Amino acid sequence: MTLKSRLPGTETSIFTRMSRLASEHGAINLSQGFPDFPIDPLLADLVHKAMLDGSNQYAPMAGLLPLREQIARVVEETYGRKTNPDLEITITAGGTEALFMAIAAVVHAGDEVIIFDPSFDTYAPAVLLNGGKPIHLNMSPPDFSIPWDALQQAINSRTRLIIVNTPHNPCGTVLSSSDLDRLASWCVEHGIYLLSDEVYERIIFDGQQHQSALSRPELQPWAMAVFSFGKTFHVTGWKSGYVVAAPELTAEMRKVHQNIVFCTNTPVQVAFTEYMKNPEHYSTLGPFYQIKRNFFLDQLKHTPLKPLSCSGSYFQLVSYGHLTQADDLDLAVKLTREAGIATIPVSNFYADHADHKLLRLCFAKKEETLAAAGKKLSQLDWSEF
Ligand SMILES: Cc1ncc(COP(=O)(O)O)c(C=O)c1O
Repeated sequence: MTLKSRLPGTETSIFTRMSRLASEHGAINLSQGFPDFPIDPLLADLVHKAMLDGSNQYAPMAGLLPLREQIARVVEETYGRKTNPDLEITITAGGTEALFMAIAAVVHAGDEVIIFDPSFDTYAPAVLLNGGKPIHLNMSPPDFSIPWDALQQAINSRTRLIIVNTPHNPCGTVLSSSDLDRLASWCVEHGIYLLSDEVYERIIFDGQQHQSALSRPELQPWAMAVFSFGKTFHVTGWKSGYVVAAPELTAEMRKVHQNIVFCTNTPVQVAFTEYMKNPEHYSTLGPFYQIKRNFFLDQLKHTPLKPLSCSGSYFQLVSYGHLTQADDLDLAVKLTREAGIATIPVSNFYADHADHKLLRLCFAKKEETLAAAGKKLSQLDWSEF
């Protein structure tokens, strides 16, 4: 008997493929989104201490309560939403598990889920695994704004969930306050849940304010907001995050969490509880990455690539259509093999593989890495691509 795949369209992710290719060719890896600089030694010490102190057994299913209390404090201070840490906050295995839990909690067979492409690669498979139907609506460069007319046409009685991501991977765009108001009023009017992927909440530039779904009281019964310690504390490999939602939604999400991982690792939770007490550890992230974005943009000035506007996240899009008409995946592979720079082709974030001749470059890197990448890109002979 042949095994029938639940996800026949899913291949090895582009991030894995490009990182593997980068290491095979010794290329500078600006493809996968992770920092190449060391973490704060204090955070590492806190985990070590927690282990030595004996925090090595299962944590409570929803996460350590003191950590959830810290999160509740920060959420209230930042977004003005008072939450009950016992009933509304769950510690998860990264933002990724939180996204899956949220989708599994509300999507039933035949339900439609609106996904704005380019989109993070786990949204649609999670919808499919739960029997739902992803409805992909394309956003287009250069501003990647929400296609409001297409959204209006797509909404019907089967629409269960809308997924948004701000600050946005890969576009580097952020939702405006009026965008969020408009989405909120549609969700409330039509009774549609909102999954707000806010893993880059702190990585926002030029004095702009992150528009969290948690900041809108009318969204309280509808919104599930997902966050990532990995992104905020430069520890993507620890796979730790959390999801905030009203008690009814949280109860349903926890049924999923309980049956996938039950709980996440304890010493890291102990360490985050202590680390979060100092606001400097999260409030300085925007300026920290803004310096890196500006430094990287300075490097790109010496290349013919055209950077798009980046207001948040740690990704910079560059357009190359004026240099070559190469397909973006072919170009990304060739650049890795022949020029020693690994990037991500943006068509991979579109269900229909729309090729806008854009590459995504991650600038969560040391200045020397960004400078070396800029130098390589400036020395390219584009007639060979
Ligand atoms: C938009 C978006 N959502 C969710 C995630 C997953 O976060 P985590 O690494 O905490 O699972 C990522 C990670 O790259 C992301 O870019």
